[in-house]
Amino acid sequence: MEPRVPTELSGCAEKLIRGRHATRAFRPEPVPADTMRAIFSLAGAAPSNSNTQPWQVEVVSGAARERLALALQTAHAERRTSMDLPYSEDMYAQVHRARRAAFGAELYGALNIAPDDHAARAAYDAESLRFYGAPHAAFLFVDGAGAARSAADVGAYMQTLLLAMTAYGVDSCPQGLLSFYADTVRHELGVTGGKLLVGISFGYADESAPVNRVTTGRAALDVTTAFHA
Ligand SMILES: Cc1cc2nc3c(=O)[nH]c(=O)nc-3n(C[C@H](O)[C@H](O)[C@H](O)COP(=O)(O)O)c2cc1C
Repeated sequence: MEPRVPTELSGCAEKLIRGRHATRAFRPEPVPADTMRAIFSLAGAAPSNSNTQPWQVEVVSGAARERLALALQTAHAERRTSMDLPYSEDMYAQVHRARRAAFGAELYGALNIAPDDHAARAAYDAESLRFYGAPHAAFLFVDGAGAARSAADVGAYMQTLLLAMTAYGVDSCPQGLLSFYADTVRHELGVTGGKLLVGISFGYADESAPVNRVTTGRAALDVTTAFHA
């Protein structure tokens, strides 16, 4: 078969996918309601196993966002963590730990936090529970009993959502940390079912913040991908 040549669409996809970055400082202006509806409607086009669409999405803005940020910070201060899906630093293989450490050095370097300043790192994490100043946050719940498997579907939804945001000029940061407070999120939003996978803060980047200039590399193609024939 002839190799396919890059098309206008692949050029756009390249720009869109590489144009998305995690944003960790936002301006306060909200995203207009019609833009928000367009983004979340587009994200719903994500693929899922047998088209089950096992995601439940809760979006907070305005007073609800303020209440939730306060509740999260209180839960954090009182050490009331509650995870629906288990997390442990031990789950990372050596290679993943090395990538994690390299990323941490980049991030905390941009924040002027020394590697051994654990108190400053913890304070930054606590502050991130205010959604890095973003005016909105979306919480992605995995619906149904088969959470471990359905998490793949919700992961596909998450990336589709992040790219839809990028396409509409909206910046974002997925925050696994928000899922460490699942009971708090459920209680504040009156959600009864599902397992909280991740929260996503979103809005418009504060371009003047040095933290938003952090860049991340990726493993080489051959390290992660094998082509069998
Ligand atoms: C599932 C998931 C959880 C994440 N959790 C956090 C988080 O808790 N805090 C944070 O600042 N960034 C978080 N991130 C953002 C990653 O650090 C970021 O995606 C990664 O370093 C690559 O950088 P890039 O998104 O700018 O390409 C998370 C990303 C994903 C996909």
